[in-house]
Amino acid sequence: PLILLVWAVIGYLLGSIPSGVLIARAMNLGNLRDIGSGNIGATNVLRTGNKRAAALTLVGDALKGAVAVLLARAFAGEDAVQLAALMAFIGHCFPVWLNFKGGKGVATYLGIFLGYAWPIGLAACAIWLIVALVSRYSSLAALVAAGWLPVIMAFTGYGSSFFLAIILCLIMYARHWSNIQRLRAGDETKIGASAGVPK
Ligand code: G3P
Repeated sequence: PLILLVWAVIGYLLGSIPSGVLIARAMNLGNLRDIGSGNIGATNVLRTGNKRAAALTLVGDALKGAVAVLLARAFAGEDAVQLAALMAFIGHCFPVWLNFKGGKGVATYLGIFLGYAWPIGLAACAIWLIVALVSRYSSLAALVAAGWLPVIMAFTGYGSSFFLAIILCLIMYARHWSNIQRLRAGDETKIGASAGVPK
């Protein structure tokens, strides 16, 4: 129905706001496409050496996911909430403003689940943090968190968002394909390493 279409569009438009690109531009950090992995996310913004810009990107990208979910929940039903969440994630990964070449979805994913059900969102953040602290790989932390979240949902009464979590996980793995190749080859960049040749 029309109302679902409306929430799909709102979700997409919110998700498509490229926080990293806007912040990097506003703070004169250069073109993210020419830095590190070339990605528009907080991990790559950190490779510019500007921690504040990276933190702002993380918050901005998470916020748009959370806002999409919370708005849909305030004004519509569960179907609209899940659709808005999915479309916010897709908006981040494939924004019309960047010729559909967007980010990898991690911060937006965390924001979506913090908004959807905060204990689940916190669980995802905790897994990300633990894996990131131990391995120093941002991508690996995201892949592990996104992989485990549906399992946790299935066993903790949050099963209503199980399929949403599976779909987001699949898209996130696809978006991290080059990271997965680098992790397998042992030459993925660690968190905090400065910008090198774009990979
Ligand atoms: O935020 C995405 C992260 O998982 C990987 O980013 O820049 O290392 O490809 P990047």
